[in-house]
Formats: sequence, structure tokens, C-alpha cells
Amino acid sequence: MTIVVRQASTTATSAAPAAVRAKLDVERVRTDFPLLVQERGGKPLVYLDNAATTQKPRAVVEALKGYYETYNANIHRGVYQLSQRSTEAYESARVKLQRFVNAAQPQEIVFVRGATEGINLVAHSYGRSSLAAGDEVVISAMEHHSNIVPWQIVCEATRARLRVVPMTDDGELELDEYEKLLGPKTKLVGLVHVSNSLGTVNPVREMIAIAHGHNIPVLVDGAQATPHMAVDVQDLDCDFYAVSGHKMFGPTGIGILYGKAELLNAMPPFQGGGEMIRSVCFDKTTYAPLPAKFEAGTPNIAGAIGLGAAVDYLNGLSWEAIQAHERDLLRYATESLKSIPGLHLLGTAKEKASVVSFVHDAVHAHDIGTVLDQEGVAIRAGHHCTQPVMERLGVPATARASFAFYNTRGEVDALVRAVHRVHEVFG
Ligand SMILES: Cc1ncc(COP(=O)(O)O)c(C=O)c1O
Repeated sequence: MTIVVRQASTTATSAAPAAVRAKLDVERVRTDFPLLVQERGGKPLVYLDNAATTQKPRAVVEALKGYYETYNANIHRGVYQLSQRSTEAYESARVKLQRFVNAAQPQEIVFVRGATEGINLVAHSYGRSSLAAGDEVVISAMEHHSNIVPWQIVCEATRARLRVVPMTDDGELELDEYEKLLGPKTKLVGLVHVSNSLGTVNPVREMIAIAHGHNIPVLVDGAQATPHMAVDVQDLDCDFYAVSGHKMFGPTGIGILYGKAELLNAMPPFQGGGEMIRSVCFDKTTYAPLPAKFEAGTPNIAGAIGLGAAVDYLNGLSWEAIQAHERDLLRYATESLKSIPGLHLLGTAKEKASVVSFVHDAVHAHDIGTVLDQEGVAIRAGHHCTQPVMERLGVPATARASFAFYNTRGEVDALVRAVHRVHEVFG
């Protein structure tokens, strides 16, 4: 029997054999995602661009609809019931996110537009106020542009220097070189938890401990981690953790930045405006306590509530079951694609999330993407906002299939069939 494992019932079913407990009922889960049931040119849609954005379960869509249809009102300001209801829903979403990443308190969760804005918040608030000429920021060779460019901007403004942890041909960070880069000049380390272009899962816990050995705070870009694994910011002991809502089955335009309260309290505001103040006069403005200090203006209320619904949805599944399924998809896709002549996989780290990047000897990644689209298979082709990774690996672009827990082995077969079709088209 195949069951959808609900976390709430794991204690009740703890006598069940581990193999049964860990099995995800994918076909059942797929019925929660309305978009997946459609065709592309007469063929079933095979959506394998989950690293770009994930599809949304009906519960998320309904949470958005419910908010707009029944209790849309601005938060924190109204004395009337509608506003109180939306405030409660917004703040209760914050608590859901707090528990989701296991932050110590809700005040450590700042709602932002996405991982990009979370990282910019740290760069422009923490970075600008703590960097001086000659200081250094250390990031890795496999960062998304959103964890490179903000640091370049802030380093240029403060005359600090950006240092880069190199990676191996397999797409693993060189930890010896990392240690060598850290020193008294280093003011912050920024690391991607899971690489979006290669799938590498970096040993961030270990890397954070090393940085803390030098009293250096660490920002983790968790955009690609939270869709695939349980994240515990207290266990990681990271100082900042950026999360993207739309990559973890929530709406676009919402995400969170986790920050340790001590650091967030000491940091200057990122943006000024309504909501983030305690009092304003022309001589002096004082700021609101956390987290309002970092939430200037009317936030994405519906987005936060929708993200809370995505967390509820994920809490109804089991990470153990999700990971077992995604590992199987990764293995199956890797083996199947490896056997295709002329095709090369990039990113073969030992620890990987379900992302497969590949190039072909004779066909450009964009042409692969176009042919696959005609077969109903949606993948991403390009540099994936990681141009330095492409340069390091000596390719202009890759084709990337990225899997979520709702993908199936049958869809991997469709991908492989479509790649064979590329051969037929391009001879
Ligand atoms: C590793 C990584 N970091 C950051 C981002 C940016 O996330 P967001 O779209 O939430 O700004 C992405 C998006 O592709 C990503 O893959």
C-alpha cells in the first residue's frame, strides 16, 4: 500500500515499517497541484523547471483567494475587525515561518520580496554599516547572482574586497581554500546552501562553524534548500538565512529573511517609510522594534498568508518521504541521461539536490530547451543566473532539469525521450 505520510500522524503510525512510512504517494500529491494537469501540444505537460519556480498547491491558491475575497484590509493600522483579521493572519504566517526554519522567535523573521531582497537587506544594512576600506566579504564560486551583485555594490561603496571560495570540477567547494580565505579582515561570509545550477548541497553547517571560529557572521542563501529539506537555523547556527517563497510552493513576491535578533537589533533600517517607525519628526526619527523595523510600507499581506499556507501544506508531508522520492528521481535521471551519446552532466557533487544540468557536444542548450518544449517538457536553458559557474566549467550555458516531489519517474522517461528527439532534429 502506498500512503501519503502526514507528519501529524507519524507518531500514530510509528509502528509501521520504515519503508512504508517513507513512501510518498506522488499520484495523490499531484492532484493537489491544478496546473500539472494540462497538455502542451497534445502531450502531457512535464514541468521540470522547479529551481526557477515551483507550482502551487490548491491550498495556497485558495488562501490567496480567501484573503482577497473575504478579509482584504491593511494590517497593523485598522481598529476594525477586517483589519484585525488580516493582521492576525499575517502575523500567524510569520509564526508558521518561524517554526518552519526553527527560529527562536517570530521577531527574527522579516517578510521580504524573496531571497534577492533578503540578501540585499543584509548587504545594504549590515554590510554598509560594518564594512570599511580593506575589509573583506567571502562568498563562493557557485553563488547565484543575487548573492554576488549586492556584495559587489556594497564593496564598491565601502572599498571592501570580495573574495571567492573556489570549487572543483565536480562542483564542490574547496574547504581548504575556504579556511585560508578567512582572517581578521573578513567581515562576512555569504554561502549558497544548495546550488541552483548544479544542485550541490554545500556543507554549510561545517562552514558556518569554521567562520564562527574567526568570529565571522554567515549569511546563507537558502532559496534552493527549503523546497527540498528541513532547515533548522538554530542547528545550522547561521546568522542570516534567506528564503524564497515561490521556490517552496508559495506565491511570488514573498520570502523571508531570518536573522539572529541580536544582529537585526543592532542593524540600521534597510528602507524607510511607514510601519518601520516608532516616531517621526523633522529633527529625528526613531525606529520600530523587530521585525517592523525592516518592513517599511504595506507588505505583501496576501503573499505572506499564501506562504503560510505553503508551509502548512509541506507540514502535511514528510521530509523523509520527499527526500527518498527526490533521491530516486535524481539517481534515475542521472543514470538515464548519462547513457545518451554526446551528453555530459555538469555538477556531480556527492551531496546533491534533485537538479540535473547537462550540455551536448553538438547542440546548444537553448536548442535543447526548444525541442524539449515541443515535446511538452519544460526545462531551463541558460546560465541560470550563475555566470561565474558557467565560466568556471567552460560552457556558455547548460540545460537544466530540476525536480520537485510531485515529479515522477514517468516524467524522467519523457525527458529522456525528448532528449533523444533532439538527436533526430539536429542529426
Ligand atoms: C540560489 C538562489 N538564490 C537566490 C535566488 C533568488 O530568489 P528570489 O527569486 O526569491 O529572489 C534564486 C532564484 O533562482 C536562487 O536559485
